[in-house]
Amino acid sequence: QVLQLEVDQIMKGGYEHYMQKEIHEQPEAITQSMRGRVKQQKSAEGNPYLQQRIKLGGLVETRDTIRRSRRIMFVACGTSYHAALAARQTVEEMVEVPVVLELASDLLDRCCPIFRDDTCVFVSQSGETADTLRALEYAKARGALCVGITNTVGSAISRATHCGIHQNAGYEIGVASTKAYTSQIICITMMALALAEDSISKRERRDAIIDELGALPDKMRSFMQVQDVAMKELAAQLKDSNSLLFFARGNNYATALEAALKCKEVALIHSEGILAGEMKHGPLALVDEHLPIVVVATRDSMYNKMESVIQQLLARSARLIILCTAGDATMQEYAKRSDCQLIEVPGTVEPLQPILNIVPLQLLAYHMTVLRGHNVDQPRNLAKSVTVT
Ligand code: AGP
Repeated sequence: QVLQLEVDQIMKGGYEHYMQKEIHEQPEAITQSMRGRVKQQKSAEGNPYLQQRIKLGGLVETRDTIRRSRRIMFVACGTSYHAALAARQTVEEMVEVPVVLELASDLLDRCCPIFRDDTCVFVSQSGETADTLRALEYAKARGALCVGITNTVGSAISRATHCGIHQNAGYEIGVASTKAYTSQIICITMMALALAEDSISKRERRDAIIDELGALPDKMRSFMQVQDVAMKELAAQLKDSNSLLFFARGNNYATALEAALKCKEVALIHSEGILAGEMKHGPLALVDEHLPIVVVATRDSMYNKMESVIQQLLARSARLIILCTAGDATMQEYAKRSDCQLIEVPGTVEPLQPILNIVPLQLLAYHMTVLRGHNVDQPRNLAKSVTVT
């Protein structure tokens, strides 16, 4: 037992918990997911835009079939589903094929129609999740092209799919998925970029995203330590809350859902991610001066709408914490005037912003869990891999 404890300590690499280690490992994990796949230099000779900048060996043979699909369906559970939600818009924009998302259990419950000209993408960290695996068998039997995105080489899903992408994010041991989430968004984004390779009309946008992919690990590193301290302080203020809400829209709806899942799963605090566009259709009734609400308002195409959400919430004396782009003077002014707190993150292109936005919220959930005295790496009633339906 002493030996086991020592092995555990070595594996945690100086961190108290696996979840903490895995949050901090994210810059490295996303670098590994991109290694050998994203080419940063454009060729100086010839037309630089015709050079291949994204190389996904696993999709070379099926690329054209995917592009010709009648729709692309992402199938996953929990955090992996949120990763697909975060990247959906990028796939829609780059590939211009209808994209649908399915929770694996619901797809099976509904006996969802799937056709031969569908591409189904199964996203699973473990590659062993029973519902996702059953859904894969179901889709395969209906003749769809099945693509796997998993973090486990040789897993059931990676073996049963026709082709796929390995995340290469390294082992994830904590039950709460953290680095697998950001790495999954990277993988789906790379897939979208690879599928748009021949499109002249997309090339500028594509290059902008690829350039930012290169800068992303350093951006993440740059604020990790500062946010760690800040989130520990915020966690001390929020740890006794009965409930926490996360408001967002656009691709950051995934950030809201994922942050809420982390708070439920490890901190054992009731929490909900709310699509801000739905605010007036019910959730607004919950707002008062006590309930803490985190609003995601980074500088992207949703910014103006989120600013209006902030104004409406402040008009109802809401207790706000605003997650915004570093140095945003407008948000700093709201914070000053209305005594709300800010969580500042570096800006990046819209498709990648959820990858940076989730980091402080993972840290917040982590610190609340520690302060509440709950088991961080093995939350009650949960298993890392859900292998039964
Ligand atoms: C995330 O923190 C959870 N542990 C859970 O939602 C998980 O993402 C889900 O069970 C799916 O697992 P998978 O990615 O291994 O398929």
